[in-house]
Amino acid sequence: MASESHHKENLHNLQLEDEGQHRNPSEVKMSQIVLPCHANHCGELSIGQLLKWMDCTACLSAERHAGCPCVTASVDDIYFEHTIGVGQVVNIKAKVNRAFNSSMEVGIEVSCEDLYSGRHWRVCQAFATFVAKRTDANKVQLRQVVPCTHQEQVEHSLAAERRRMRLIHHDIMQDLLNNKTFQRKNHDEDEALPTERTRVESVELVLPPHANHQVNTFGGQIMAWMENVATIAASRLCHDHPTLRAIDMFHFRGPSQVGDRLVLKAIVNNTFKNSMEVGVCAEAYHGDEPLRHINSAFMTFEVLDEKGRPCPLPPIKPEPQEGQRRYQEALARKKIRLDRKYIISCKQTEVPLSVPWDTSNQVYLSYNNVSALKMLAAKNNWDLCSKKNNVSLYTVEESQSLCFRVEFEMEIPAQRAFILLSDISRRHEWDQHYTLCKLLLRVDEDDFIYQVVTPSVSKGGQYQDFILLASRRPPCDSGDPYVIALRSVALPSHPPTEEFHRGEVVCAGFTIYEVSKSVSKISYYNQASPEVLPYISTDIAGLSSSFYSIFCACSLFIIYISYTMAIQSAFHRNNKKQYSLKVHK
Ligand code: COA
Ligand code: ADP
Repeated sequence: MASESHHKENLHNLQLEDEGQHRNPSEVKMSQIVLPCHANHCGELSIGQLLKWMDCTACLSAERHAGCPCVTASVDDIYFEHTIGVGQVVNIKAKVNRAFNSSMEVGIEVSCEDLYSGRHWRVCQAFATFVAKRTDANKVQLRQVVPCTHQEQVEHSLAAERRRMRLIHHDIMQDLLNNKTFQRKNHDEDEALPTERTRVESVELVLPPHANHQVNTFGGQIMAWMENVATIAASRLCHDHPTLRAIDMFHFRGPSQVGDRLVLKAIVNNTFKNSMEVGVCAEAYHGDEPLRHINSAFMTFEVLDEKGRPCPLPPIKPEPQEGQRRYQEALARKKIRLDRKYIISCKQTEVPLSVPWDTSNQVYLSYNNVSALKMLAAKNNWDLCSKKNNVSLYTVEESQSLCFRVEFEMEIPAQRAFILLSDISRRHEWDQHYTLCKLLLRVDEDDFIYQVVTPSVSKGGQYQDFILLASRRPPCDSGDPYVIALRSVALPSHPPTEEFHRGEVVCAGFTIYEVSKSVSKISYYNQASPEVLPYISTDIAGLSSSFYSIFCACSLFIIYISYTMAIQSAFHRNNKKQYSLKVHK
């Protein structure tokens, strides 16, 4: 009964969304007119002030969902697309995309409005994580967010993958920074500017207006102070007005309270052709207590000419030891930033096929792989094209692509289907299109790179091969599917050979939903590239039903293997029992 009324409510919300009327219950909006007191000496809104407004809006949204005080735990990368002038209006919208246990992801959108022309444009988008503060010894368990509209469903699904990425971010960065392949020699000493002159140290006393009613310093206030010292460091290098372009993902390691002294330190770590990286560190102390590390952030600045084009920047000469290390690490971060921007901020259809895989972009390629599949699965314009027994074939035709989905339910626990289907090296056992599948690289415990060989579509034609990244993800919580995502990547160690025609997969994979303890709904998705299209086009045209025979083979494989596994484990149990009986005798 409850689920029926919930279903009705969802339908109602979807209808409202179509009519543009649905409002997410956690949504909070803030509009501010930019006054001279919010601006820098060039009449542009200071990014520090913007960060305070963004953090405040997001915190109110998090607290509306949580029903208790929340603190900023982290903020993902932010790219600022435009500056905002005095007299313009800043509109900020924040809503909770997903709640996990005690933390939640808040999506923040910032746009600017010119009151005279009525024009609106996007300034940036950010994802912040807020944690509900524990009241006693126990962690707060937040209620789940129920996505109502199609867009909310997409964000809810992607939030799980973004969370995964931010929780491993620190370790990934450490591994990459230790990777010596990023090292480069310093510039010619003569033309390089010493960085020491850019060093800034500044102290702030945390007063009640900087904190919430729980006396915790606002994350946005700390970010604003950090941006202030970073801007001073950048200005000391360029002797001009620097514009903040991006802030890398960061984490508030520990809280700060009213009465704390915050020490903020910044220095230019490196300059590139048209941009520079400034690092900032925030530490707190109280009385004689030792310094507590609160936060470190890396900000990218540019200097723009009167036409808004970035100007070249001089090379720098870092200080020995720490300065040298930061100089090298800034290079590694620059490479990672470029990869991330290239892979993540591209629209799904614009991400090139077969992006070269390497350790520095691995985490973003995996994110792209899983999010592309989740977005394909979340499309709301799937058409049923054909059905045979319990196997259905759906398609979505869009201007640039044709996607298909094959779906069936079978009697198998979802987790077991996931284990069996995510072992791509066994796929040739049920899919005649997979002649061979070789594991090339085990990236981590959830991501693998395979070479897959498939027969030619035309008679007597050349065999094709694909280099596929397979990313498997168990559900983040109940109601989520198991996901196995596949996309092409290019591996420098495995270039195309004359033996095979190299094919490419844009986006493919499985989602597996638990229908009941023993029944799963298995969906196979594929955004058909020219290499894949001929296999399925006759099915879509209704001339054949090869999808049916393949998926019958797939379910037979799953049943057969899980039956074998069940027999084996019964055999082991039996052996163990007999062994323990013998021991006892
Ligand atoms: N990014 C996003 N979320 C993170 C995170 C990060 N880098 N690190 C931890 N979290 C999440 C965890 O996933 C967990 O979420 P869950 O409960 O939904 O599973 C939650 O934070 C709590 O994690 P836990 O392991 O219990 O605590 P912790 O010791 O890692 O502490 C904070 C995490 C955020 C509570 C702690 O670092 C803190 O108090 N930071 C300061 C927050 C603050 O005061 N900010 C305002 C400015 S100072
Ligand atoms: P790391 O040194 O590994 O980069 P930290 O958290 O110590 O990490 O510092 C973050 C950034 O803050 C540094 O990259 C640097 O740019 C800046 N920073 C740290 N310490 C100082 C300092 N004493 N003076 C000026 N800037 C500093």
